[in-house]
Amino acid sequence: MIAQPFIQELLDRINIVDIVSRYLQLKKAGANFTACCPFHDEKTPSFTVNPSKQFYHCFGCGRHGNAINFLMEHSGISFVEAIENLAAHAGMQIPTWKSVNSKTPDSGKTSRDQVKFDEADETAQTLHALYGRMEQAATFYRVQLKQSEQAITYLKSRGVSGQTALRFGIGYAPPGWQNLAEIFTDYPSGDSNHALVRSGLIVAHEGKKSYDRFRHRIMFPILDRKKKIIGFGGRTLDGNEPKYLNSPETSLFIKGHELYNLVSAGPAIRKSGRVVVVEGYMDVVMLAQYGVENVVATLGTATTSVHIQKLLRYTDEVIFCFDGDKAGTKAAWRALETSLPQLRDGKDIKFLFLPAKEDPDSYIRKYNKDAFEDLLEKAQPLSDFFCKELSGRVNLGTSEGRARLVRQAEPLLAQINAPVFGFMLMKRISELVGMDQSQLAVFLKSGKKNPPSVSHVDVPRPLSVTPYRRLIQILLYAPAYVDKLDTELLALDDNQSEEKVLLAILVDFIKTSASRSSVDKLSSKEIMSHLDQTPHCALLKKIARDIHVKTTDWDIDAEFTGAMVRLREVQRKSRVAELHNKPLASLTPEEKQELRRLMLS
Ligand code: UTP
Ligand code: MN
Repeated sequence: MIAQPFIQELLDRINIVDIVSRYLQLKKAGANFTACCPFHDEKTPSFTVNPSKQFYHCFGCGRHGNAINFLMEHSGISFVEAIENLAAHAGMQIPTWKSVNSKTPDSGKTSRDQVKFDEADETAQTLHALYGRMEQAATFYRVQLKQSEQAITYLKSRGVSGQTALRFGIGYAPPGWQNLAEIFTDYPSGDSNHALVRSGLIVAHEGKKSYDRFRHRIMFPILDRKKKIIGFGGRTLDGNEPKYLNSPETSLFIKGHELYNLVSAGPAIRKSGRVVVVEGYMDVVMLAQYGVENVVATLGTATTSVHIQKLLRYTDEVIFCFDGDKAGTKAAWRALETSLPQLRDGKDIKFLFLPAKEDPDSYIRKYNKDAFEDLLEKAQPLSDFFCKELSGRVNLGTSEGRARLVRQAEPLLAQINAPVFGFMLMKRISELVGMDQSQLAVFLKSGKKNPPSVSHVDVPRPLSVTPYRRLIQILLYAPAYVDKLDTELLALDDNQSEEKVLLAILVDFIKTSASRSSVDKLSSKEIMSHLDQTPHCALLKKIARDIHVKTTDWDIDAEFTGAMVRLREVQRKSRVAELHNKPLASLTPEEKQELRRLMLS
């Protein structure tokens, strides 16, 4: 027998989607997930999992229930076994009562299950009591805010509207050491096991007078999935250290698991299909005030893998937003490292670096919502940040530098569990260091056991295939890619290589001479014969001959994307070089702006 409140708590902490995903390949369908029902025979999926209600339902056979029911039914295990399984998954202990409980008889007569019942009940009651205390404290802080001119003036000076303060439940903890005694009649005296102490609201040292943890601070309540308060962040008004004081970790509050504003941002995250992760409470609050609602913040800790898992459960795109300074880049790199093992194909993790000295709060107040959203659109994909950061650490102009890059990338690549993404990233790295992709793969595989010394590796070798050549090859065999080609990249400028011209001609030919429906049927022979007359025919033949891999062995999609990325990079570099070649004083403000943008991207 396991107490109902414990079970409820358990169900609150797990996600049925994770549990069902162990056994079924779930597909996203709107807010729900679907799969073919495991309980009856079917070809089209009528089994759905609803993450917000945390239950499954099959429209075919009518079976439904929560995660416990699913495990029992699917694995044929008992109720208690299912709970044990889920508790292990959630890292919760089905409590086994030992001492301290006055209700527990000290004879050995009580059955184990009865003991379990008592303790589980106690745990749930305790948690319930802690939630209650937090709620009471939050109400107190809100009332105090209304009565404090100083706190109101402070919030006004930071541009926080009354409506925003209300919406985020912002409050104020007044100065003084025992204010919470006003609302808690059982204010402890040095009892470090008191519920109020365990809630983190009050600090107690054995034998000494207890005191309020938060004093003279603006209070931000932190909510869990059920919108219950699990902790607070308190910002100083007078420069007292630390700037932000957070609730300590309690049985309600684990910083590495929680994100500020996640539950309130949920609908906006789903609607926009992305979530923005910022560093501070004030960033979340002000972005929301300006209409950017799909934002959460970490709570004074680095991003953890639990954070990332939680976010990727909500949405397919996560944008980490960091300050543009050294510390920001460092934090971003840490977030990247944590993200790598969590990445799945189809999920997108991006990085946005703000201009120096700005944080999201200051930025949106200065430049407004649209400007911030523009920045979001331009966030760097994880792979870009990855390559840029690694290339920045070495000198790519030397073989030692390139070898070092490979060595630095190696342990990181090994953590990637997303096959397509891993492939693409490896491809980019092989291009960066001028190494064949297959060679790189061999090197990386053998690297762990027996790292070959630099000189043994056949790096660097000049790239045999430029992005232009690769695109020409792709178009010869899969002309329909012409529609996906970013033609801006082919815009004729004064930097025309023969390859580039040939590619432009080829694109032009495919677009004009093939009617839309038959683009796919255009054979490489036909294309070649049509281009026989052009002066670039010899080059075309040469490039065509270079494809010695059977086209079926080709991941054309990956090749195409890879080539486009490289092309963009080539163009960026040549434009930067062009602008750099002009004397700085002669650049127009637009050119300066462009240069800055190109250098940052
Ligand atoms: P920042 O120091 O970047 O401050 O902390 P901020 O968010 O810009 O704050 P304002 O604008 O000065 O009010 C970012 C986040 O790091 C955590 C908090 O979660 C904060 O929101 N932090 C910061 C702490 O936990 N403790 C601190 O002492 C400082
Ligand atoms: Mn700030």
